[in-house]
Amino acid sequence: MSDKAILEYDGKRYEFPVIKDTENELAIDIKSLRSSTGMITIDPGFKNTGSCESEITFLDGEKGMLRYRGYAIEELAEKADFLEVAYLLIFGELPNKEQLETFHEDIKAESQVDEEMKKILDGFPKSAHPMGVLSSLTSALIAFNPTSVNISSEKDMYHAIVKILGKFPVLVAWTMRKKKGLPLDYGDDNLGYVENLHKMMFKKPSKEYKSNKIVIDALDKLLILHADHEQNCSTSAVRITGSSHAGLFVSLSAGISALWGPLHGGANQAVIEMLEAIKEDGGDTHKYMDKAKDKNDEFRLMGFGHRVYKNFDPRARIIKKAADEVLEDLGIVDPILDIAKSLEKVALEDEYFVERNLYPNVDFYSGIIYRALGIPREMFTVMFAMGRLPGWIAQWREMRLRHEPIGRPRQVYIGKTYRPFKPLEER
Ligand code: ACO
Repeated sequence: MSDKAILEYDGKRYEFPVIKDTENELAIDIKSLRSSTGMITIDPGFKNTGSCESEITFLDGEKGMLRYRGYAIEELAEKADFLEVAYLLIFGELPNKEQLETFHEDIKAESQVDEEMKKILDGFPKSAHPMGVLSSLTSALIAFNPTSVNISSEKDMYHAIVKILGKFPVLVAWTMRKKKGLPLDYGDDNLGYVENLHKMMFKKPSKEYKSNKIVIDALDKLLILHADHEQNCSTSAVRITGSSHAGLFVSLSAGISALWGPLHGGANQAVIEMLEAIKEDGGDTHKYMDKAKDKNDEFRLMGFGHRVYKNFDPRARIIKKAADEVLEDLGIVDPILDIAKSLEKVALEDEYFVERNLYPNVDFYSGIIYRALGIPREMFTVMFAMGRLPGWIAQWREMRLRHEPIGRPRQVYIGKTYRPFKPLEER
C-alpha cells in the first residue's frame, strides 16, 4: 500500500503523506497543502477532517465499537466505576487502589464552592434552563480561582483537574436544587463520588438521605457511557476554546454550551418530549415516522442517527438493557418506554431509516432511565455534561500537552467582491 496520496491539478502533481493510525485507519496529511498548492479544502461539518491526533478514545462507527484508552466500553460499563474511568481517560491508565484513593481524596478536598457563587445563582430566574446556568457557573468559577494553570507543571495541571472534578458535581446539584426551590447544600465526604452527587441533588432538608444501590449503579453506568466520544461537537468546542490558551474552566463552559443543542446532548431531553408528544397524540408511531421522512417537515426522529455510528451505537445497546433492568428493579411501569420500543421497531424495519443507516443513539434510552431515577427532564443534558466532564478534561489536557496550534479554520468566501462605499444619502 502506498504511503503517499497524489493530487493532480492544473497540470501539476503534488504528493501528500498517508499516515496510518494504531487501528490501521488511514489519513492524508495535508498540513502542507496550502503552502505547496495555494489551495485549501472545504468540508462543512468536518465530516472528513481529523482535527488532531489523539490517544484517548477510539470508535469505529461501522463496527459499532467504542473504547476508552483501549478498553471496551462494554467492559468498563460492567466492571469499572465512574471515577476509575475518569482517571483512565485523563491520565491514560486505570488507577491502582492507592492511586484511586488519593485521586478521590484530592477531589474531596476541592468539593467546596465559594459561597459567593450562590449570589450568581440567585441572579438567575427559576425558569432558566439548567444548561445555561451550569455553563455560566462553570465559567464564573474562574473568578474565584483566578490562577492560570501552568501546563508544564504536572502538579498544577493535576490540581486544576481535581478542582473541577470536586466542584462540578456541586454546581450540577445546585442547578437542579435552584429549579426545585431546595436549599443549596454540600455533599458528604464519606460517600462515593456518584452517590455523593446523587445525595447533593436529592437530599430533602427535613429527611434523612437514603441511598439506593440500583439507582447509584444505573447513574454510574450512564456517566461512564457518556464520559468521552472523541472529537464530537462539544469536545471540539472545548479543544478549540482551550487552543487559544483560555483556561480549563472557560473551555469546559464552551463545551457545555455546545452540548446543550438538540442535535447533540440536548437530544436526550428532546427524545422524552417527543415521546410524550406522541403519547398525547394517541401513540401513533407510524404517523411520526412519516413526519420524520417528509422532507417538507422539519421534524426529526430524536434519538436516531449519528454522525459516526452508521451501524449501531454500542452505548445505546448497553443503555437499552440498563433501562429495562432499572425500570423492573424500581417497579416502574412507563408507557413512554412502550412507545419508544414500538418506534424503534418501526424505524429499524423502515426503508428510509435502513437505507440511511439510522439507528437509535445513546440518547434514545438515557432519558427514560433519568426519568425513572426521578431526574427532571431539563436536567437530562446536565447529567450528560456531568458524564462528559472527564472526557473534556482529558481532551483539553492532551491538546495543551501536545502544544497544539490555535484552532482556526479557513473558509471559501462567497460574499461580494470589492465595491466602493456608498454615502448614506445615496443608499
Ligand atoms: N430523523 C429523520 N431523518 C434523519 C435523522 C432523524 N433523526 N437523522 C438523519 N436523518 C436523515 C437526514 O435527513 C439525511 O437524509 P437525506 O440523505 O435524504 O438528506 C440523512 O439522514 C443523513 O443525515 P445528516 O443530517 O446528514 O447526518 P449527520 O451526520 O449530519 O447528523 C445527527 C447526525 C445530527 C445526529 C442527525 O442524525 C440527527 O439530527 N439526529 C437526531 C438528533 C439526535 O438524536 N442527536 C443526538 C446525537 S448523539 C449525541 O450527540 C450524543
